[in-house]
Amino acid sequence: MTLRPLRHLSGLLLAFVLGSAHANEPLSISSDSFQCVTDMTPVRGFYVDNLIAGKLADTVAVATAEQGQYPPGSVVQLVPTEVMVKHPKGFNAATNDWEFFELSVSPQGTKIDKRGFVDVVNRFGGNCFACHIKAEQKFDFICESDHGCDPIPLSLQVKQVLQKTDPRCEEKYLPTPAELKMLQQLAASLNAR
Ligand code: HEC
Repeated sequence: MTLRPLRHLSGLLLAFVLGSAHANEPLSISSDSFQCVTDMTPVRGFYVDNLIAGKLADTVAVATAEQGQYPPGSVVQLVPTEVMVKHPKGFNAATNDWEFFELSVSPQGTKIDKRGFVDVVNRFGGNCFACHIKAEQKFDFICESDHGCDPIPLSLQVKQVLQKTDPRCEEKYLPTPAELKMLQQLAASLNAR
């Protein structure tokens, strides 16, 4: 009976030690690492998450500050099919430890089509790294609209519709006729390539 509080404390200490060890351990990333974009934490139009338990607040802090080095485990998404994940420090010097992913998404979940560091090309034919490296260093590869990257051909409205209609989201969003038209135009312009 008297040992109880002590046992509680050792459990807490163990959780702390395991938690802190995690930040430098290799990340295990699978299709299950990714989720409905709008279930992540929104920051100025894009969404963030962290794959390491207890580290989301650190990622949100850097994203909100709009500059600084993202912590290991950070996940960043703008559109449902493209995602960046930050590995522990020293993992890949060229990308400052970011890995780029091109995904397929459906109501069944996520499928990883491509992943890598400097050679992943998206469905618009663009190399993720080649664009994102142009962001000024203090932005840690995050482009937004004014960090130095070449622009992407998606209007604000199209980005928002793509986020809201992410097929992985449990709550289904029904696009308005105007939004549906935007999605059809996007699909047509992709097919024409
Ligand atoms: C033509 C250049 C270009 C290519 C190629 C490109 N991006 Fe981006 N990306 C951008 C720009 C510009 C933004 C910001 C758009 C905005 O906020 O309106 C962006 C936004 C993002 C964001 C949200 C955070 C941020 O940087 O603003 C992620 C995540 C992302 N891209 C991942 C990828 C991945 C993964 C690939 C490859 C599969 C890729 N991008 C290919 C230019 C590019």
